[in-house]
Amino acid sequence: MKHQSIKEIGVKPLEWIDNKVRFIEVSMLPEKVSYVETDSYERIAEAIERLEIRGAPAIGVAAALGIALAVVKSSAKTVNGIVLDAVKAARRLEKTRPTAVNLFWAIDRMERRINELSKIVASISEFKRLVVEEAIKIMFEDIEVNVRIGVNGAELIEDGDTILTHCNAGSLATAGFGTALGVIRAAVKQGKKVRVIATETRPLLQGARLTTWELMQDKIPVTLITDNMVGYIMGKGLVDKVVVGADRILLSGHVANKIGTYSIAVLAKHHNIPFYVAAPTSTIDPKSKQIPIEERDPNEVRTVLNKVWIAPRDVPVYNPAFDITPPELVTAIITEKGVIWPPYPENIPKTLQLK
Ligand code: MRU
Repeated sequence: MKHQSIKEIGVKPLEWIDNKVRFIEVSMLPEKVSYVETDSYERIAEAIERLEIRGAPAIGVAAALGIALAVVKSSAKTVNGIVLDAVKAARRLEKTRPTAVNLFWAIDRMERRINELSKIVASISEFKRLVVEEAIKIMFEDIEVNVRIGVNGAELIEDGDTILTHCNAGSLATAGFGTALGVIRAAVKQGKKVRVIATETRPLLQGARLTTWELMQDKIPVTLITDNMVGYIMGKGLVDKVVVGADRILLSGHVANKIGTYSIAVLAKHHNIPFYVAAPTSTIDPKSKQIPIEERDPNEVRTVLNKVWIAPRDVPVYNPAFDITPPELVTAIITEKGVIWPPYPENIPKTLQLK
């Protein structure tokens, strides 16, 4: 996958260069394509909290790279001392955002590898090298997985389809290529003519700012609508399929994704439009029965991107960042291991080989 060109995977939001992490500050898009380079895991944690790095797979990859930074920078004189620094970074990074399970999945994978290595590697430089290697592996695997999600999902897309997507589940939300937008990219690569409708995704406008920008870079036709236009355009027969990403999927088939996804799924059901969720299996949480929903700063709702006040400054606000779509509204879940159809409580564990 290291040989996949940037052109093929869309933009690359995260990179490891000379023991530093370089990331696109997605909060500045589309006004400015600005990059941050850091050797500090604390800066990575802040970037995740501020949504400079966002999207479930991207925050998982960023956390893995953050732990690698802590290990590289550690001045401890023993492997066990470095492990303590890595654990400190892991505890900080896991506090950044609660909903996307990829964050915890990646931190857990890094900690397991660090623990394993600490038992067999005595040389500090070799230990550091192998930890960095694991983080980079997580990053490249994410791109590979997204390409496979794309190939599996493209089978469900027909030539001439108009696909509605919500939020941004593209290259900018992953290490590259994207999940929902990966399906669209793969269909286009197969020669299918598809059009995309992107919802703006209030309050932080990931659809308006990121999805449209990303698709326009790739010259994939996209039309922007406000979130409250979905019912109208579905009623007019303008949407053939919905494809969205996910932040956490339970074995029951409940899907947490950006706030507004549930409303779109209800509307899709009403209008008999297939509603697909595209996500890596690392987004499936085999342990939890419930999903913690992040609540964010009320000023995100009272303002437009903290620039223009659009409500009384002290109006009470409720600002959940995600919602949960129940399994009966989800037509299928597209993963790198194949397309999972209902009944989910039976077919998700089969795909994960838990049964
Ligand atoms: O708050 P965000 O921007 O991190 O929310 C992102 C989403 O909800 C995406 O749809 C989800 O993470 C899937 S990204 C491939």
